[in-house]
Amino acid sequence: VIRIASRVAAIPEAATFALKARAQALRAQGRDVVDLSVGEPDGSPPEAALAAARESLDRGEHRYAPVAGIPELREAIAARYRRLHGIPAEPANVLVTIGGKQALHDLSLTLFEPGDEVLIPTPCWISYVPQLELAGVRVRCVPSRWEEGFQPDVDALAAAVGPKTRAIYLNSPGNPTGVVLEAERLHAIDRLAAERGLLVVSDEIYGAITYDGRRHPCAVALSDDARLRTIVVDAVSKTFAMAGWRLGWMLAPKSVIAACSALQGHVTSGVAPVVQRAAVGALSAGPDYTASLVDSYRQRRDALYDGLSGLDGLDPGLRPMGAFYLFPRVDGLFGRRRLDGSPLKDARGVADWLLDSAGVAAIPGDAFGEPRCIRFSYATDIDRLRTAAERVRDALNSLR
Ligand SMILES: Cc1ncc(COP(=O)(O)O)c(C=O)c1O
Repeated sequence: VIRIASRVAAIPEAATFALKARAQALRAQGRDVVDLSVGEPDGSPPEAALAAARESLDRGEHRYAPVAGIPELREAIAARYRRLHGIPAEPANVLVTIGGKQALHDLSLTLFEPGDEVLIPTPCWISYVPQLELAGVRVRCVPSRWEEGFQPDVDALAAAVGPKTRAIYLNSPGNPTGVVLEAERLHAIDRLAAERGLLVVSDEIYGAITYDGRRHPCAVALSDDARLRTIVVDAVSKTFAMAGWRLGWMLAPKSVIAACSALQGHVTSGVAPVVQRAAVGALSAGPDYTASLVDSYRQRRDALYDGLSGLDGLDPGLRPMGAFYLFPRVDGLFGRRRLDGSPLKDARGVADWLLDSAGVAAIPGDAFGEPRCIRFSYATDIDRLRTAAERVRDALNSLR
């Protein structure tokens, strides 16, 4: 009787959650696993977020909230863009969503017709392609070059634009690469979008997490006319260590907000008021909160990067500039043999072997469109990262 519709049956399971489940199963058997699979901050949200949530519960806010978000939150988000990026953002430019993920999902259903094309520089986050394909969009992946530090290849993007191309997706700082898009490239991509009549969807969910004095240039702040074709997606998930609260947003022209809001009115009815209040609290946190969060990620980045440098067969590439991922190449290990004599064939094989033999969980790069790499998330305790690096080192030394 049950027949899963082909549009859903075709969706692959999210590799990140699948790996996390495997790591948890091994732990349940008593194995000591360092789980570097899921990109989930381990810190505490700002105290102001938790206090605001408690107050909301005490006030008894249990009813539906406005579908597009409570006015206080839409204003707090708009004010953040005015303050940080000098953009004349208004609450009507903001839609509150269930995580950044839903903002992107809304956009894929709202902006494109079946058969339209979207360009995505790869490696890229795992959910863009399934979300767009669900909307009948044809995704053209445009590989970024390792040799260029995985910065998007503007010439290749330009060459990939065709009559059906409607948009370019960007993600900076990037998951899985940790790359912060160079300002000149962002300008060049914006010029390309202007010339070819394309939208830019800029996923800036790691925008606050950059290192060594680097800044992510907000795509909507490039120029007055960039605002007409650019949509920014963000969330409290990473910036305020609130991934489980499920609160994100988009900043977009008003017509897009109105259309996505109509969609949400039939799909989710918006986000729980207690969560929205917590987000207002989070956004009121001072710069010290973010500074100490970023500083702790920077120390962990260095612990993992340094621990995994100088190994035969594993090339960590450039030191990540933002987000909390390391995406080393491991194709130098392909063909090497495990203790039992079996060869490591590909990134999946490497990730499986690391989990089995070293108790370190990482995600094979295929999930992000780059089968030469694996992804480690370093949003975890720094001593556990050092342990992970030692174990990977020992495991590599055991290969033949
Ligand atoms: C690049 C990127 N975009 C979007 C998301 C989704 O964020 P959220 O948890 O707020 O839905 C993630 C989460 O890992 C991400 O890494």
